[in-house]
Amino acid sequence: MSDLPNLTVVDHPLVRHKLALLRSVDTPTKLFRELVQEITMLMAYEVTRTLEEEEVEVVTPLETTTGHRIAGKKLVIVPVLRAGLGMVDGVLRLIPGARVGHVGLARDEESLQPVEYYFKVPSEAEARQFLVVDPMLATGGSACAAIARLKSSGARAITYMCLVAAPEGVRALAEAHGDVALFAGALDRQLNDVGYIVPGLGDAGDRLYGTE
Ligand code: PRP
Ligand code: URA
Repeated sequence: MSDLPNLTVVDHPLVRHKLALLRSVDTPTKLFRELVQEITMLMAYEVTRTLEEEEVEVVTPLETTTGHRIAGKKLVIVPVLRAGLGMVDGVLRLIPGARVGHVGLARDEESLQPVEYYFKVPSEAEARQFLVVDPMLATGGSACAAIARLKSSGARAITYMCLVAAPEGVRALAEAHGDVALFAGALDRQLNDVGYIVPGLGDAGDRLYGTE
């Protein structure tokens, strides 16, 4: 992965095991949803490793000591609608106080270009850490548009997390937003001729919400 320096693949055995189940065409909607949440939670543990901390005084039953807490304003999880919504609870399980912004983007299946239909994030974006979540990074069009929109609202510190990435999307994101760290559960082979990731897992939104 030396040609994809912005990418970290979270290749923990539990992530890999659950991803294999997620990919299977035999996995039904209920299990698919649960797996998306579980994989997100496992990945979030790694993705948040660099969050800034500050020291805090703690009084134990025995003495006063120094502990740590996450510093700064509340982190903002930003799902890219619709499929990104399936990942929100996985992050909230670890960071229950996080805020949630929303970017509504749908990929035009002809042009493969993302079209924005909704945008709402908390105020004071300049001072916050943002975590953009979307199961699939394919051409990278949706990710680049979501991040550009966040930056235009003032966001500066942005991390992107997906479950499955295509090399084409990883490169597009690095080119457009070299300052954004990218985490994926797996790096797949390529896009097919209609812009789907292969081997991939199909249409993440349809599989999450049973709209195939
Ligand atoms: C999917 C996926 C990403 C996007 C990836 O969403 O969840 O947002 O496609 O493709 P790209 O990298 O080529 O932009 P889709 O637009 O199908 O919408 P949905 O989540 O509502 O199903
Ligand atoms: N969006 C999906 O949901 N799956 C893909 O493979 C590509 C884009």
